[in-house]
Amino acid sequence: MALEDKHKWNKKYQNNPIPDTPIKLITQYAKLATGKQALDIACGMGRHSKYLISLGFEVDALDVSSLAIASLQNIPQIHAKEVDFDTYQLEKKKYDLIVCTFFLKRELFPQIIEALKTGGILIYETFVYHPDNEQVPSERSFLLEEGELENAFKKTLEVIESREYWHETMKGFKMKKASLVARKL
Ligand SMILES: C[S@@+](CC[C@H](N)C(=O)[O-])C[C@H]1O[C@@H](n2cnc3c(N)ncnc32)[C@H](O)[C@@H]1O
Repeated sequence: MALEDKHKWNKKYQNNPIPDTPIKLITQYAKLATGKQALDIACGMGRHSKYLISLGFEVDALDVSSLAIASLQNIPQIHAKEVDFDTYQLEKKKYDLIVCTFFLKRELFPQIIEALKTGGILIYETFVYHPDNEQVPSERSFLLEEGELENAFKKTLEVIESREYWHETMKGFKMKKASLVARKL
């Protein structure tokens, strides 16, 4: 499966421009982190890793796309590594900030909690299943269910912001999204 993902994403990154600007949730909340060790899960071409180093963070940028990871080599403060989250284990208690945008692997949820230091901040945003979504992924499991993101983290993290809302994608499709900002107590 991850090999398929790798080829799919390498091809996508070769052929299509993807947004280079950080999402608002990250520009709004990254500064809540009190230390400077950050993790960008499924970093893609690294728009958030690049934004975070501009704030002084050291970033572990992880993704299965070799093309994306190659593009992030030799950027000081970004430690880019090709990994497959089907098998890769996050380092425990390492991060002051973890960001994950437009990627969903539910098995990572407990690992994300473990990977945060006490006081560490999680910023997560991705799409939610809804019958009125105008862009349908190949598998429903790639989308959150309604309420799922907050429910996955609210028992162990302090929720700072959580919302679900309609959004228009770059290609003009209406999609439901969920955002969560939370702190490890
Ligand atoms: C929609 S992109 C999001 C990129 C980035 N977070 C952003 O918002 O710009 C999803 C990313 O997940 C990565 N990915 C997909 N499956 C993966 C896996 N099994 N392990 C690691 N990364 C994976 C892809 O290579 C791709 O870069």
